[in-house]
Amino acid sequence: MTKLKWGMIGGGEGSQIGPAHRLGALADGRFAFTAGALDHRPDVGRDYAQRLGISADRAYGDWEEMLAGEKDRDDRIDLVTVATPNATHFEITKSFLEAGFNVLCEKPMTMTVEEGEEIVKIAEKSGKICAVNYCYSAYPMVRQARAMVRAGEIGKVRLVVTSFSHGHHGDATDADNPRVRWRYDPEMAGVSGQFADCGIHALHMASFICDDEVQRLSADFASTIPSRVLEDDAMVNFRMEGGTVGRLWTSSVAIGRQHGFDIQVFGETGGLRWASEQPNQLIYTPVGGRTQIIEKGEGGLHEDAQRLSRVAIAHPEGFPLAVANIYCDLADAISGADRDGLPNAADGVRSMAAVHTAVASAKDGGTWMDARPPMFR
Ligand code: NAI
Repeated sequence: MTKLKWGMIGGGEGSQIGPAHRLGALADGRFAFTAGALDHRPDVGRDYAQRLGISADRAYGDWEEMLAGEKDRDDRIDLVTVATPNATHFEITKSFLEAGFNVLCEKPMTMTVEEGEEIVKIAEKSGKICAVNYCYSAYPMVRQARAMVRAGEIGKVRLVVTSFSHGHHGDATDADNPRVRWRYDPEMAGVSGQFADCGIHALHMASFICDDEVQRLSADFASTIPSRVLEDDAMVNFRMEGGTVGRLWTSSVAIGRQHGFDIQVFGETGGLRWASEQPNQLIYTPVGGRTQIIEKGEGGLHEDAQRLSRVAIAHPEGFPLAVANIYCDLADAISGADRDGLPNAADGVRSMAAVHTAVASAKDGGTWMDARPPMFR
């Protein structure tokens, strides 16, 4: 089977998310790393791309050079990943979609709802895939949770409770460190700090497992370190279109919590619990019954969890392989398969609408507001 050709923008040497994309894209032999504009410094990016095995003529200095270089090639890339800082996602994603490329964009997909709606429309018009890297939804046991909910194994979902709270920005004496400070500066980060950074993963996860969409929300934001303009802690209550009650807490000052992403889903006949720090287990309790641990790799899992488990039961699979599952779904989708678990531009714009609604609600004392983008009302 010929490998699909893959390119990446951003994710250069020393970046946080670049290695996970490279490990993920190349894990299953479906993609060949063919082109890249990996760094905001053209020479550094060209050099690193070549050290990673990309030929000199496809090791580009910036994304515009990459677009110009790739678009008229007979052997153009089949997929481009956008792993640059947030404010650049819209322009790069839009340009590549319009030129007929499939795109995997990092979250958040855009900075505004209007941009997000534009991306949805461009993706529809182009007929190309625009995926968004909500990679936690690709852990096998998260897919198992969604499949169990879809199969009615916990009954109608009443309540979903999720948190994505870590303590890595909890040191007030480090608040002026430039690597931390920009995240709470509206000029650099946009309208929201912690909720836009981590909260949207949790909100997407709630929608994903419950197989439902967020309809309205009420938010309380706090800058617990007073020099921060944007929030470092947020509590968001929400309701889903199907009536499910949602509770979300996200924080960057929760000292002692490391990754800190977990979710609990409570239905009429059972409950489920998953945590990113024990991603290979799903905890299931049927009403009136004993709590059970469902393990990645065990027999009898739902197909969507089984097909994304690589190594045998009790051998851990972690974050890069969750990203690899996104690339598996992408490879399948590019080859024409229907992969409805793949997070897409609609998910991206729903997140942006939720962010902007949460900001408005928090400013208005927690008023409940419609959290959907206008195009989905
Ligand atoms: P980073 O600051 O560690 O790295 C950014 C990389 O992009 C650097 O190599 C930089 O040189 C390069 N870059 C910047 N501007 C560029 C441009 N115009 N053209 C080409 N390269 C450029 O950032 P990090 O943490 O890796 O985040 C990147 C994106 O990934 C962000 O949007 C972030 O929200 C997202 N992210 C997603 C995660 C997930 O779980 N899905 C986890 C971490 C980050």
